[in-house]
Amino acid sequence: MKVLLIGSGGREHALAWKIAQSPRLEHLYAAPGNPGIAEHATLVSLDIEDHAAVISFSKDKNIDFVVIGPEAPLVAGLADDLCAAGIATFGPSKAAAQLEGSKGFTKDLCARYDIPTGAYQRFKSAEPAKAYVREQGAPIVIKADGLAAGKGVTVAMSEADALAAIDDCFDGAFGAAGAEVVVEAFLDGEEASFFCLSDGKTALALATAQDHKRVGDGDTGPNTGGMGAYSPAPVMTPAMVERTMKDIIEPTIKGMARDGNPFSGVFFAGLMMTQKGPELIEYNVRFGDPECQVLMMRLKSDLLPILYATATGTLDQVTVEWSDDAALTVVLASKGYPASYDKNTPIAHVPDAREDAKVFHAGTTLKDGQLVATGGRVLNVTALGKNVTEAQARAYALAKDVTWDNGFSRSDIGWQAVARENAT
Ligand code: AMP
Ligand code: GLY
Repeated sequence: MKVLLIGSGGREHALAWKIAQSPRLEHLYAAPGNPGIAEHATLVSLDIEDHAAVISFSKDKNIDFVVIGPEAPLVAGLADDLCAAGIATFGPSKAAAQLEGSKGFTKDLCARYDIPTGAYQRFKSAEPAKAYVREQGAPIVIKADGLAAGKGVTVAMSEADALAAIDDCFDGAFGAAGAEVVVEAFLDGEEASFFCLSDGKTALALATAQDHKRVGDGDTGPNTGGMGAYSPAPVMTPAMVERTMKDIIEPTIKGMARDGNPFSGVFFAGLMMTQKGPELIEYNVRFGDPECQVLMMRLKSDLLPILYATATGTLDQVTVEWSDDAALTVVLASKGYPASYDKNTPIAHVPDAREDAKVFHAGTTLKDGQLVATGGRVLNVTALGKNVTEAQARAYALAKDVTWDNGFSRSDIGWQAVARENAT
């Protein structure tokens, strides 16, 4: 099979690494890719916003299958355009990608199909939103409706913070994404991420993970795209996975199909394990970054036929096998991230993969032969271990061998799971 992978982050490096191991693969292309992905794929400098260019490249190279990594091209309808051109594509349609593209869309779906989630209201202007906040009281959660690169959510512990967050949204802090606001009840509990494939009819549960959104040790400081993750998530016991499938994923698949937006791709469900059981915080319609890196480390099955079955409606014919080991990834980021940081800082050394440990590239590029950091999140040092404690030790040991003066990482990725493991 000739495959084109769209994207350039650590998530796509992990997908490329795994797809490249498939006996079914004839050739892998990636657009735009990164120097890590280049170990497994031919990089193509396509403008992925130019759907016609992606289609014409795919036709030219006889691409059998396109795998879309990030959310932006999905929300922009790249999967629809590729499918219309007769090219099998992994990733939901523009209509189905609203599950990530509009928080209000997802909340309305939950209300229609009785999917457990926090009570909410949608608002198009500040005053009624503020009145609702005053009526409900704090803690309360304010969300810009649209895509805001993970920054559009304020968990307000006081009414004043909630009112200020409403002003921020309507004053344009998140651009068009904040033109509508969702005000949502605060959910208390431990968070977990759950990944599940759907071809529109069948659901295939993948695995669970937990990430670390805050930039600082002990989960302090501002939110980021994710500073590290591990899999599996201990709170997601088999019983909780079963409840999530029955109460959240299956009604979503049926509801989306009934509403005329059948969902094909991966559900990345952000869950809060409350006293009532799992409740939906949000859906993403692509793999998590860096959650994908730990999932791919644990995946024993051939990824390519699983993704292809998802795209072609034959998910009922595949099964998926996971390592019982834990995987953990540590993000190395540019000093200053998530605020401003220097670009093009040299990375002198990235260690080779070791048994069960590998560095995935995210925001890197080659400049005159020198590897440099161009993004906020730059390298993902990922390892397997018999438990999270061992995976953590292996990942940090490998991270020590990276030579990059402008890089930093958290030193405690996996701390909750490690504390649990060492208490027993
Ligand atoms: P989201 O972008 O929707 O994932 O929200 C970012 C983070 O805000 C989540 O990972 C949670 O930690 C937190 N959050 C979002 N919604 C709620 C909620 N209703 N109750 C408590 N925390 C929330
Ligand atoms: N790590 C969170 C995300 O991919 O959205």
